[in-house]
Amino acid sequence: MKGVVLAGGLGTRMYPLTKVTNKHLLPIYNKPMIYYPIRTLVNAGIDEILIVTGGNSAGDFLRLLGNGKEFGLRHINYTYQEGEGGIAAALSLAEYFADNDKIVVILGDNIIEGNIRGAVASFQAQKDGARILLKEVSDPQRFGVPVFEGEKIVRIDEKPLTPASNYAVIGIYMYDHRVFDFIKTLKPSERGELEITDVNNFYIREGKIAWDVLDGWWTDAGTFDSLQYAGGMVAKTGANKL
Ligand code: DAU
Repeated sequence: MKGVVLAGGLGTRMYPLTKVTNKHLLPIYNKPMIYYPIRTLVNAGIDEILIVTGGNSAGDFLRLLGNGKEFGLRHINYTYQEGEGGIAAALSLAEYFADNDKIVVILGDNIIEGNIRGAVASFQAQKDGARILLKEVSDPQRFGVPVFEGEKIVRIDEKPLTPASNYAVIGIYMYDHRVFDFIKTLKPSERGELEITDVNNFYIREGKIAWDVLDGWWTDAGTFDSLQYAGGMVAKTGANKL
C-alpha cells in the first residue's frame, strides 16, 4: 500500500517558530518532527511514500530526507502545496501518486508511541471504504470527535464546543481511491479550509467507515504545548516502537 505524509500548510499557529522554517522540521526531542510520521508508515510496511510539503523551507525536506536511505527506503516522492487550503486540499495533491490504489495518510505533526501495523493489515483486508483511528483524550474539543450510536460512528464533529465523546479522531486515515472524488465536492469550512472531517463524514454517510482504537500514547505537535509534550513523551518512552 502507498503512504502519504501531509506536511503542508504555513504553521501560523506556531509563529515565530515557523516564521523562517517549516513546522515539520522543528525538533521533537532528538529528531525533526517529520521523522516520526515517516517512521510510522515504514514500520507498517509502507515503502512507497509521498510527502506533501509547503510553506517555508520546503527545499530543506529534500536536503534532510533525500531518498529516505535512513528509513530503509529507496525513493521518496515530494510535492508542494501552495498556501494552507486545508488537510483535504493537501491530500488532493496525492491523486496522481495514488493512481487508484488504497492509501494510508498521516499528518506530519502526529506522533505515536506504538505502531499501526494491525490497522493497516485490517484495511488491506477491507474491500473498500475508509478506516480511521481513535484515541481517548482529555481535551476532545481540540480535535475531530466521533459521535457514536452503540458501536457505530454516525458523525464526526470538527472541534466541537461540547464533544459527544471523549475520543479524538487521530491524524492517520486510510482511504480507497474514491477519496479524491469526495474531496472535489468539498466546500471550505468556517476556517476557510477543506476539512478532512468532511471527507470522513462522506464515508460515514455511505456506511463505509471502520475504526480501531490506537494502542499506546498519541499526540499532535502543532501547538506550543503539544510540541513540548511530544518532546517529553519521546524522551521518556520513545516513539514508533514495533
Ligand atoms: O491531529 C489530529 C487532528 O488534525 C484531527 O483530530 C482533526 O480532525 C483535524 O482537522 C486536524 O486538526 P488540526 O486543526 O490540529 O490540524 P492542523 O491545521 O494543525 O494540521 C495538521 C497537519 O496537517 C499539519 O501539521 C500539516 C497538515 N496540513 C494542514 C493544513 C491546514 C497540510 O498539509 N496542509 C494544510 O493546508
